[in-house]
Amino acid sequence: MLSSTPTSFHHRTTLTPSPSLLSTPLPSSSSTHHPLRQFSFHTRPLGLRCHTQFPLTPKTLKVNCSTREPLKVMISGAPASGKGTQCELIVQKFGLVHISTGDLLRAEVAAGTEIGNKAKEFMNAGHLVPDEIVTAMVAARLSRDDAKQKGWLLDGYPRSLGQAQSLEKMQIRPDVYIILDVPDEILIDRCVGRRLDPVTGKIYHLKFFPPQDEEIKARLVTRPDDTEEKVKSRLNIYKQNAEAASSSYSNIAHKIDGSHSKEKVFKEIESVLSQLQQDKVKIMKSGEKSILDTKKGQTSLSQDKWRGIPTRLNNIPHSREIRKYFYDDVLQATQRAVNDGKTRLKVDINIPELNPEMDVYRIGTLMELVRDLALSFADDGKRVKVCVQGSMGEGALAGMPLQLAGTRKILEFMDWGDYGAKGTFINIGSIGAAEVEEQDDMYILVAPQNAVGNCIIDDLRAMTNAAEHRPVILINARLKDLPGSSGIMQTMGRDQRLKYAASFESCYFFRLLYYAGTQYPIMGAIRMTYPYQYELYKRVDESPGKEKYVILSTFPQRPTTDEINDAFQGKPSNETRKASGIWGFLSGIL
Ligand code: AP5
Repeated sequence: MLSSTPTSFHHRTTLTPSPSLLSTPLPSSSSTHHPLRQFSFHTRPLGLRCHTQFPLTPKTLKVNCSTREPLKVMISGAPASGKGTQCELIVQKFGLVHISTGDLLRAEVAAGTEIGNKAKEFMNAGHLVPDEIVTAMVAARLSRDDAKQKGWLLDGYPRSLGQAQSLEKMQIRPDVYIILDVPDEILIDRCVGRRLDPVTGKIYHLKFFPPQDEEIKARLVTRPDDTEEKVKSRLNIYKQNAEAASSSYSNIAHKIDGSHSKEKVFKEIESVLSQLQQDKVKIMKSGEKSILDTKKGQTSLSQDKWRGIPTRLNNIPHSREIRKYFYDDVLQATQRAVNDGKTRLKVDINIPELNPEMDVYRIGTLMELVRDLALSFADDGKRVKVCVQGSMGEGALAGMPLQLAGTRKILEFMDWGDYGAKGTFINIGSIGAAEVEEQDDMYILVAPQNAVGNCIIDDLRAMTNAAEHRPVILINARLKDLPGSSGIMQTMGRDQRLKYAASFESCYFFRLLYYAGTQYPIMGAIRMTYPYQYELYKRVDESPGKEKYVILSTFPQRPTTDEINDAFQGKPSNETRKASGIWGFLSGIL
């Protein structure tokens, strides 16, 4: 806060970038005219992070960014939460221009500019440098061509409400706002042990990442603001401002547990950014370019466009737009998995209209999903067999699950397009080994499940065995114990069923979250699309009738009830916790 700053500098304000700022060496990773390149390494300012000035290892895989709209990423977190460390990795993988306000300021200090001299006092005291200085620096850096062309990664800005508002005024918005969440005691340990290489700008840690090379070890330096006392003060200032600074980005915020190893943390970030990049490409391809425009009054992709969770899912019937969104989401995940050579796949999609536990279940939606999926693979030249199990059992025990009654007929009579796909590229069949024919390329099995007294497992296994290397995709399979229409529990072949179901890899998962024992209101959702992680969303009501979904966390495996509880309560997932509370019910449906 200005009132607690050590000088009266705040009386002198300027919001336009000063000439000295524009001519000061800027710690950007990717500028070809980087002023630092004119100097020897030894003149580089202390602790500067200049990531892509170093040759990338041959192993480094760069994402091909075919979109014309590059990524815009903000990363925030307490001092020493690992922002700089993760930025190194993000830059290597995604080629974004890294803009760290800490680095920009340290460069000014090292260059002895007027701004640097003023900033130094604040920085060394562990206080925030006045907004006007920092904002002008950021604005100048973001306006450069490399940032516009390659996309940017803003690290350590905005750090106050004022800074966030300044960005809003300039209509600068990120696609995603990543928050690294790390407990205080770890932060202090990380800060006190941090060492910087003044030659390369690389970040080390005495305990966690000590350099192997003796020469490097000998030249490492400590940042003047890395004493325990100053770290505590920086941490307090961070806490006072964090919520206000991030409030503008709650709908695109992505909180990540930063206490894990740097590789694990990066994996999560990578998953988020890759998904975002794919979404952008998808939208560009489908001609929805207007969403990406950053013209006056318009906002970026993630802010306005659903990313995984369309809103108003309680409105039944779901709008055509919502249904289409989910069909596309399932389709893309499934195609990615099939293209990766996966052959035993399952899709679990439980929006209200596809959830047989809800009264609003609509068989037409399931049929439409299956048709979209089948036609899309057929468009790629594959011969797809869509299969629905027939009646099982004999005599009084003959029958089929209620959910599937009449579905085969519906499939037969559906509109399969004008080009005669049905009978050539699309065929309708049943479930069993006899259905597998030589010309088939893949199989889509519609909600295979048990009926009272009958178990589908043997037919299913025989069919997948006969299909051999060909993909078999189960849509909303229900192979666990199910009560039949009379309430009788089907338990026959239980162990076999569960083992068999587990042999299919999940390529799509979506389920809404509710309070214990209710189906209203929606509290959040879980989504996974192959090959990305499980995303946990929380529903937030901005104003009556206006809702949005905010990503709370991601998980490599489907999250447990405790993990969901922790994320909803804002606890790091490694914290020990009591038995499940209000979300306890979720274990039953997960
Ligand atoms: P800045 O340089 O941005 O400092 P900070 O936000 O306090 O963050 P740090 O650089 O300390 O930490 P980091 O999160 O980058 O962690 P790192 O990757 O290095 O800003 C400095 C000062 O400039 C501010 O105090 C302020 O005065 C001023 N300033 C900057 N921006 C401003 C703004 N917008 N407005 C006003 N003033 C501003 O990691 C830390 C250590 O942990 C390292 O040793 C690393 O090796 C280790 N480590 C990292 N990840 C892991 C891991 N996963 N496991 C184990 N160790 C890890």
